[in-house]
Amino acid sequence: MAIPQHTIDQILDRTDIVDVIGQRVKLKKTGRTYSGCCPFHQEKSPSFHVYRDKQYFHCFGCQANGNAIRFLMDIDGRNFVDVMKDLSSQSGIELPKDNQDTKRLSYKREIKPTTIAPKKVATAPENNSSDQPPIVAQHDPFEEFQQNNHLDSEFNPHDPFIAFEQAEQNSTQDGNLYDLLENIALYYQQQLPRSQTAQQYFRQRGLSIETIQYWRLGYAPEDWQHLEKAFPYDTEGLRQLGLIRTSDNGRDFNLLRDRVIFPIRDAKGRVVGFGGRALNDEIKPKYINSPDSEVFHKNQLLYGLYEGRKQKAQDWLMVEGYMDVIALQQAGIYGAVATLGTASNTDHLTILFKQNSRITIAFDGDAAGQKAARRTLEIALPLLSDGRELKFFVLPDDQDPDSLIRREGLENFNRLLQQAPLLSDFVFAHLSQNHDVSKPEGKSQVMGELRQLTELLPKHGSYRYLLQQFFREKLGFNRKWQPQVNNDASLSFSTKIDAEQYVIAILMNHPYLYIHFEPLRALISHDQLLFKILNIFNCIFDDLPDDPELSQYYILGACANHHHDLQHILLNTQISDYTASPEQADKLAEDFSIKLQYQCLQQKIKSKKFTSIAEMRNLKQRIYEIDCKRSLSLLEE
Ligand code: UTP
Ligand code: MN
Repeated sequence: MAIPQHTIDQILDRTDIVDVIGQRVKLKKTGRTYSGCCPFHQEKSPSFHVYRDKQYFHCFGCQANGNAIRFLMDIDGRNFVDVMKDLSSQSGIELPKDNQDTKRLSYKREIKPTTIAPKKVATAPENNSSDQPPIVAQHDPFEEFQQNNHLDSEFNPHDPFIAFEQAEQNSTQDGNLYDLLENIALYYQQQLPRSQTAQQYFRQRGLSIETIQYWRLGYAPEDWQHLEKAFPYDTEGLRQLGLIRTSDNGRDFNLLRDRVIFPIRDAKGRVVGFGGRALNDEIKPKYINSPDSEVFHKNQLLYGLYEGRKQKAQDWLMVEGYMDVIALQQAGIYGAVATLGTASNTDHLTILFKQNSRITIAFDGDAAGQKAARRTLEIALPLLSDGRELKFFVLPDDQDPDSLIRREGLENFNRLLQQAPLLSDFVFAHLSQNHDVSKPEGKSQVMGELRQLTELLPKHGSYRYLLQQFFREKLGFNRKWQPQVNNDASLSFSTKIDAEQYVIAILMNHPYLYIHFEPLRALISHDQLLFKILNIFNCIFDDLPDDPELSQYYILGACANHHHDLQHILLNTQISDYTASPEQADKLAEDFSIKLQYQCLQQKIKSKKFTSIAEMRNLKQRIYEIDCKRSLSLLEE
């Protein structure tokens, strides 16, 4: 099976080499790269490096190198197609059934040009906003087109003679959508000098001649069927691209008319679609984009990505529109990209995070911008692992990046951009604006909303915990909360020794799971080893290294005083048998924590170790809550 290059590219776009290799090799993040011991030769010190931005690995020891596909082929001794089948099912991008793909990219060219019967058709009234061609004609668009078109000396695909020759040459050949798109882009570019209004439009928006050429900006004429006339053999291809539409009354018309044209290039620089903007703001819709096609997948494309990469952009900024991207790149901010009239999704962010682990997203300052920011936040949170950072650039009121850079100039714009808040600050501002955080109720509402958001974070990163910690500090909670109940030493629960040992073993193996056990500190008796260990965690948790292995050493060092007990416990429990996967470990930790909390609370009630009725109520309430949680988790199982 031959897999076409663009399918391979698509699959690679959706695959992250760090994830792929990380499943097989223990990788450690060092600066912008990841390193580990090379799986292709024996070594003790790591000389195997994985580069996320380049989606490439290289071993300085044995010179093994390549992309994710190469890695999987070499490590398992599998062939290319086998590996691609795997990656295809993981990425959700289908491989072509034999030959189907080439078929999809091709269309039948016609031997005879489609005859466009001169219709008695009237141009629509000026600025007609409807996308239906007019039914009654006042003049013949074809004639008008011909009159205009004799000016075209460089490119005249509908010249009868050339057309004839092309037909002779190509009648047996299928057309290719990429070639057709390229030709259409050229055609639109060549129409620009013919329209004063279109040129004037770009000029008025501050675009230089170089910029117009660089982005291959063009103009789609008013004529209802200019594309059929320019590409008489390619109507089927034009239809496949969604550039010819059929109205309710059965007439064909071109999707983009009397609009300035933004050709959209994929990551390889191939034209795959078009955006067309109306020449004045009264015309609705302001932008029309060509629809998704075999080669145009809006959800996986970012306008400006190809260009930004060519300029070796380092810092990437997601903005809303084509004009923002162009204006910013013209001013020297090369990492500006935009979605294609759709909301940004996981794929878009994943693509950007591959360029750099820190990205910024620009939002309007208005209510709609806030809403978009919130949505993007929810999409982005699950992606925030491995030191990825997200910044939120909230624009001043009534400004978009295009207008702001023109108003402020590059230097000021960059300064504002630098000041964009990190996710934590942004989330705090976002959540606290709707509550009165000077009151306890407001604070707890904010914490509740925060918890909903942190649920979206990857389970085993430290970020979840750190964010909560950050909020508590901002809200003026005392994180090192002391037990509110009288926790005297006589209240021991010697019968729970096993659970206690398991909790300690879990903590030693997975220090970040401390988050689950923090509530226990307030409940268990002070002379228990677990209490001492939890106290140590409480002091050093913020300084734990991100790397899981390092954090284990770190914690063992911090608990050195209890070395003997710990060794014994670790041997006894063999906890690693139960915590092979992160999900397992997390579940186990949660279960043990709840179990122990429950036991402690029960014990307190039984031994009547409470000082007031209110406290007893509080204890009962907490037991009740745990009961609910337990029955819920039973339901889930
Ligand atoms: P905006 O309406 O914010 O416009 O659309 P803009 O980018 O500032 O456009 P200018 O500066 O007035 O030219 C942002 C993006 O949303 C999509 C387009 O991709 C646009 O670039 N859009 C907007 C549409 O797809 N259709 C529309 O009708 C409007
Ligand atoms: Mn704008």
